[in-house]
Amino acid sequence: MLMLSGMYIHIPFCLNKCNYCDFLSFKSTDEEREKYVTALIKEINMYPKFPLETVYFGGGTPSLLTPEQVNRVLANLDIKENSEVTLEVNPKTVTLEKFKLFKKAGINRVSIGIQSFNDKMLKVLGRLHSSNEGSEAFYLARKAGFDNISLDLMFSLPNQTLDDLKADLNHLFALKPEHFSIYSLIWEEGTDFFAKLEAGIYKETDNDLEASMYELIIEEAKKNGYIHYEISNFCLPGKRAIHNTKYWQNEEYLGIGIGASGYYNNIRYKNVLKIPEYYAKISDNIKPILEEEFIDSHEKEIYEYILGLRVIPDGIVPKGKYIDLCNKLVDDGFLIRDNLRYTLSSKGVLMANDVFDKFI
Ligand SMILES: C[S@@+](CC[C@H](N)C(=O)[O-])C[C@H]1O[C@@H](n2cnc3c(N)ncnc32)[C@H](O)[C@@H]1O
Ligand code: SF4
Repeated sequence: MLMLSGMYIHIPFCLNKCNYCDFLSFKSTDEEREKYVTALIKEINMYPKFPLETVYFGGGTPSLLTPEQVNRVLANLDIKENSEVTLEVNPKTVTLEKFKLFKKAGINRVSIGIQSFNDKMLKVLGRLHSSNEGSEAFYLARKAGFDNISLDLMFSLPNQTLDDLKADLNHLFALKPEHFSIYSLIWEEGTDFFAKLEAGIYKETDNDLEASMYELIIEEAKKNGYIHYEISNFCLPGKRAIHNTKYWQNEEYLGIGIGASGYYNNIRYKNVLKIPEYYAKISDNIKPILEEEFIDSHEKEIYEYILGLRVIPDGIVPKGKYIDLCNKLVDDGFLIRDNLRYTLSSKGVLMANDVFDKFI
């Protein structure tokens, strides 16, 4: 059994709500963020101190915190040498000086939300930054000394063409980040995008175009030296996201902050979603957990297969009845078998959700 060695910390603040996003985030004041950081530290101290190999500040917009606040949180953790400490960054919230101070505070990897390099599309998405400001954030992070930078993009956006996507990819590869994630747009209920979809103003991308877009991404990434190591994630050799890889290896981790999920002592849990409730629990010295699910050995095995298959080069080594299922998926062209190990085929990557459903 692997010892818990990862921590996710949720920072639920954004400058503004993007039109497609339903992540847990709100507008905030300096006082609110300070109060939240104090509460986060109290929550962290409700758990035993595990020697951590990865810490991930996700959001929301963690780069809205001051480097001093980030440092204060990190000072309450037991972080092993050579750990990966990631901060998600919105281009509109950073300067060279701030990046330098984040580095000094202990951050050694940044993940910058770019979404697109097309100014018109950025407006449609409700982003506050231009394409140039997105690239500039990347250059500033490099200048500040970050040698492990990830960029987030999206595709299958309203009225996006293959040529639009190709232009975004060209721009991305010119920057040469160590890692990038690219997500197909999810039309989330409650968002401005969803309302426009319902009203017939936007249309969902047709399935064939979406598949061609995904194939284009995989092809172009490969040409540019990137390894497609997870459904939505690509990296230069040796630069996988170590923190996220822990999720895919079904390792336990702590989730801290409102709405954070965690997996600890065989229990998958989710924290409360409302800030007043979060503060109330913390001030009563109670873990702010909303719901818990005990994971028995059967569920654990299913999680291991589904999450494991996501890591395309590694795949899974199934046991018992799952060997027959995997052999059937090989016959149908979704998996490739190499001795005892099974990995997704190109067709399996394109239809990954259908493959995962077979294990449930
Ligand atoms: C927490 S955000 C990244 C940091 C920062 N909040 C930002 O947007 O600049 C995580 C990523 O999730 C992706 N995302 C958010 N909503 C999405 C949606 N509806 N469909 C697909 N991807 C989405 C975006 O690529 C976003 O960068
Ligand atoms: S995409 Fe990022 S910046 Fe935009 S609302 Fe969501 S979390 Fe905030």
